[in-house]
Amino acid sequence: MKIDQLFCVRDLVAIVTGGASGIGRACAEAMAENDAVVVLFDRDADGAARAAREMSAKGGRVTAMTLDVTDRAALEAAMGEVRGALGRIDVVFANAGVSGGPGFVGLDGVRDSKAAFENVAGEVWERVLRTNIMSVQATLAAAVPHMKRQGHGRIIVTSSVSATRTEPHVATAYVASKGAVGQLVRQAAMELAAYNINVNALAPGPTATNIGGGRLQAADAQKGFGALTPMRRIGMPDDMKGAALFLASPASAYVTGAHIAVDGGALLGKAD
Ligand SMILES: NC(=O)c1ccc[n+]([C@@H]2O[C@H](COP(=O)([O-])OP(=O)(O)OC[C@H]3O[C@@H](n4cnc5c(N)ncnc54)[C@H](O)[C@@H]3O)[C@@H](O)[C@H]2O)c1
Repeated sequence: MKIDQLFCVRDLVAIVTGGASGIGRACAEAMAENDAVVVLFDRDADGAARAAREMSAKGGRVTAMTLDVTDRAALEAAMGEVRGALGRIDVVFANAGVSGGPGFVGLDGVRDSKAAFENVAGEVWERVLRTNIMSVQATLAAAVPHMKRQGHGRIIVTSSVSATRTEPHVATAYVASKGAVGQLVRQAAMELAAYNINVNALAPGPTATNIGGGRLQAADAQKGFGALTPMRRIGMPDDMKGAALFLASPASAYVTGAHIAVDGGALLGKAD
């Protein structure tokens, strides 16, 4: 098969949660630049409208819907609306997520008492788990009935290297949420394979986005996390585009339950 058939996403209807910014936006761009029809779901109304406008200006077919993924009813209604308007939901990127703040060790190697286990407020845990795991479950639950009815579907969940390793520099609530995402992806993949629905995870390492107030855009954070990465730099949103296309296209037809790390080797550990 030629590359333009193998990686073809032309005319697929793709929803991207958290598509206004960062990794979600890069996944949306990868799809739109390759002729998919893309709908951004984001709680940031202005950001989503701007992203849709900018992608459309480059020839993409991109629209935006404002919604909070922690609102199950809103998710169900929005998926129904997309299905009604566009006839199918081929691909869903369950990507929206939030940070839980810095970890218990700063990048300077010093412990931060504010992030000590006993000092992290219950509300932080609730916000992180509600967004990063419960809303992923809700996104899949809202998409699956449509995918079952049409007889196919691709679900790509933005997980993290935190799904499989401990992270002293990242909040424990976040690491725990991504650990749960890892098992959700595997379990959903196992159940849904019989319905021709593939469920895979994109697992970025530290990536310069707006997460956590944009802390990974700061030079010191980039230097600190970059030093822990064998490729000696953190990720950029564009680094995710290849894996996004792979997981949305026929190239990954026989791949399900996988975690595809896009992390410059971060999961391998610090080299030198
Ligand atoms: N940046 C990293 O280092 C990194 C690493 C691994 C995984 N991730 C994951 O990537 C995903 C995307 O994060 P990002 O780094 O691109 O961050 P980002 O802040 O740049 O983008 C996240 C987007 O999600 C939206 N969003 C957040 N909560 C929402 C909600 N409740 N309802 C609707 N929209 C919501 C935001 O408005 C924003 O547009 C997250 O799941 C995150 O955990 C990020």
